[in-house]
Amino acid sequence: WMMFEDDVQAILRLKRERNAVILAHNYQTPEIFHGVADIVGDSLALARKAIDIEADVIVLAGVHFMAETAKLLNPEKTVLIPDMAAGCSLADSITPEDIALLRAAHPGVPIITYVNTSAAVKAASDICCTSGNAKQVVESLGVPRVLMIPDEYLARNVARETDVEILAWHGHCEVHELFNAEDVRQLRENHPGVTVLAHPECPPEVVAAADFAGSTAVMSDYVAAKRPARVVLLTECSMSDNVAVHHPDVEFIRPCNLCPHMKRITLSNIRTALEQNHHEVVVDPEVAVAARRAVERMLAI
Ligand code: 13P
Ligand code: SF4
Repeated sequence: WMMFEDDVQAILRLKRERNAVILAHNYQTPEIFHGVADIVGDSLALARKAIDIEADVIVLAGVHFMAETAKLLNPEKTVLIPDMAAGCSLADSITPEDIALLRAAHPGVPIITYVNTSAAVKAASDICCTSGNAKQVVESLGVPRVLMIPDEYLARNVARETDVEILAWHGHCEVHELFNAEDVRQLRENHPGVTVLAHPECPPEVVAAADFAGSTAVMSDYVAAKRPARVVLLTECSMSDNVAVHHPDVEFIRPCNLCPHMKRITLSNIRTALEQNHHEVVVDPEVAVAARRAVERMLAI
């Protein structure tokens, strides 16, 4: 902790001076998550809580699409991301031009866009979803068929739980696609009785072999409610670190994969962001209006 002390103290001071808050995703490292964040959670929670924030500045400790979402919902506030290059393989897998081609190929079929996308892609779609509410969003539309982009695996995992036909795109999360069913088999063999929780960005064979699947917040709530003796979270590495702090009685088995984008955010660049007002996230006003409509339609459900 000593090595972080300087940056933590400076960030706490800068937050007061600038009337700033730090939003941190569940995949941020513990010194950020537990040391300086004001609001933590999954993508859905960060989107929701961003609305009620009374602050002049939001620092988004997470990836670029999350900062854009915070900006969409807080157009008057300054939104900073400590590293502009903190991207996402899902967000990078699809463009607004792809959405136009999908609309032409599937006239009248609503397009549900996972929040892991650029504001421009959100603007071109009908409604957003997150891994925490995807099934409700699909079923809220009252239609027999939807397009769910860009995560193929999320779409296929939701399709297993609903009668609505779901057409998918071919994007994947570079972190979650690395898990496979053999990993789950070996975990169960090596750690008898282990409860296996998987993120819905994992391939369907992994979700099928797991005991339960849900967003990062849902996984965290599951551990708090059920208190399994041994658990493995098939997701990004920092997730177990952050949840384990609250559950010293639960044994966390830790095969995990790092998200290189999430790991671009550090205490040091959070401090610099606040000191130098770097790097401001701006969204074209026309794009923002349409993208906000898709996000707010989701939040209204
Ligand atoms: P959630 O926190 O919404 O489950 O999303 C996981 C993720 O990979 C975000 O990048
Ligand atoms: Fe994107 Fe996957 Fe990283 Fe989340 S974990 S930011 S979905 S690459």
